[in-house]
Amino acid sequence: MTLRKPAETSQPVHELIRERWSPRAFNGKPVPKDVLASLFEAARWAASCNNSQPWRFLIASKDEPAAYETLLRCFNERNQSWAVTAPVIMITCADKNLPDGRPSNYGFYDTGAAMAQLTFQASALGLVVHQAQGILFDKVRETYGVPDDFDICTGVALGYQGEPDVLPEDYAKREVLPRERKTLPELVFTGGFGKASGLIG
Ligand SMILES: Cc1cc2nc3c(=O)[nH]c(=O)nc-3n(C[C@H](O)[C@H](O)[C@H](O)COP(=O)(O)O)c2cc1C
Repeated sequence: MTLRKPAETSQPVHELIRERWSPRAFNGKPVPKDVLASLFEAARWAASCNNSQPWRFLIASKDEPAAYETLLRCFNERNQSWAVTAPVIMITCADKNLPDGRPSNYGFYDTGAAMAQLTFQASALGLVVHQAQGILFDKVRETYGVPDDFDICTGVALGYQGEPDVLPEDYAKREVLPRERKTLPELVFTGGFGKASGLIG
């Protein structure tokens, strides 16, 4: 049975948020092309600074094994050991400049927002997503010819959730650990940085 790890929230939240988590175990089921397209359509409609839409996605599917292997080798070894269970893997990149050529500090921020939209669309369609900073940045740039004015942000594995026993033993153990979060007073302030807000809860 698929492992659920619903968020233990202090307030009610939408089911998609409560149920989303980042499994490392995927089953062998391929992701149909229209489902995959739907995920990127959700990302495409994210908000961004000056509508700059800085996000770019390099994707590979197990349907094309050589291309998949090339992209998988851009994850570090630890992350390869679980990402290899995913039918689709990708690298996210972010434009460092606005469309008018001015430098922007918001490429990473906006690409994160696009990834959040992709992730919740995935949840809505019964898929799971796991992001990873443990990738080989120079290798990605060289392999795919990523221009210098794009940052390389993350590796991502996506597909349908699998059972923990498809993972190496240490990751199988981590798969079942409880999820943890900071509390709202540690995050939300009023009147000064670090002053817990009285406006909520
Ligand atoms: C930007 C980013 C980088 C991450 N890097 C890795 C990574 O390199 N390896 C890994 O196993 N998980 C990685 N994760 C997954 C996080 O550890 C995970 O999202 C976090 O522990 C919260 O768990 P949850 O998503 O299940 O709520 C990353 C997540 C994000 C958003």
